[in-house]
Amino acid sequence: MATSFSPKILTNIFLVLVVTAAMYAAKATDHKETKLSFYLHDIAAFGDPKATTIPVAGIAGKAWTFTQFGTVYVVDDNITKTPDPKSPKVAQFQGLYVTAALDGLRAFATASILFTNEEYNRSTIQIQGTNQDPDTEVAVVGGTGKFRFARGYATSKIYFLDTATQHSVVQLNVTVQTS
Ligand SMILES: *[C@@H]1O[C@H](CO)[C@@H](O)[C@H](O)[C@H]1NC(C)=O
Ligand SMILES: *[C@@H]1O[C@H](CO)[C@@H](O)[C@H](O)[C@H]1NC(C)=O
Ligand SMILES: *[C@@H]1O[C@H](CO)[C@@H](O)[C@H](O)[C@H]1NC(C)=O
Repeated sequence: MATSFSPKILTNIFLVLVVTAAMYAAKATDHKETKLSFYLHDIAAFGDPKATTIPVAGIAGKAWTFTQFGTVYVVDDNITKTPDPKSPKVAQFQGLYVTAALDGLRAFATASILFTNEEYNRSTIQIQGTNQDPDTEVAVVGGTGKFRFARGYATSKIYFLDTATQHSVVQLNVTVQTS
């Protein structure tokens, strides 16, 4: 008995293909978006025992400063819910800054936002980009835990700066999409 595709079978196959394609299309765009906003507390004073941003390398014979090309800093800032350093702790900001512009005007940053709060405990968001004071935007290049497959962006601006003590509070907004 010869089998042949009747127009009805062909229509059914076509419908199945359309529905499957639509499901994939929906899945591809059905990302969960999370917006976070919090504050970094930074102490950059050279020699301050409480410093959280410390230069660890630079060009021999040059001062290791933010405006000197080649200076490498390691950073570990507390991140809290509000600008008040005593407000609930949300995360740590741990990574590196490198003054990566020959004119000293920009630094390249690569860091992990390592959550310690209850909601995202032990999950991370990885950020990378160039800081451009006063308003910086960097890329979210990945994440772990609740932020697996994360992508997005983060913006920051200085909320408070005491130039004498080099204490600063930086507002950080992060928008991430996860699948
Ligand atoms: C960071 O937070 C911890 C408490 O979790 C606190 O003991 C420490 O002093 C804070 N560090 C700075 C530099 O504010
Ligand atoms: C985060 O996880 C660690 C290890 O599982 C646990 O000790 C800690 O209490 C948790 N913190 C919060 C705020 O849930
Ligand atoms: C963060 O988001 C808040 C609320 O939308 C906004 O007022 C603030 O300007 C944003 N800050 C940054 C650094 O993007």
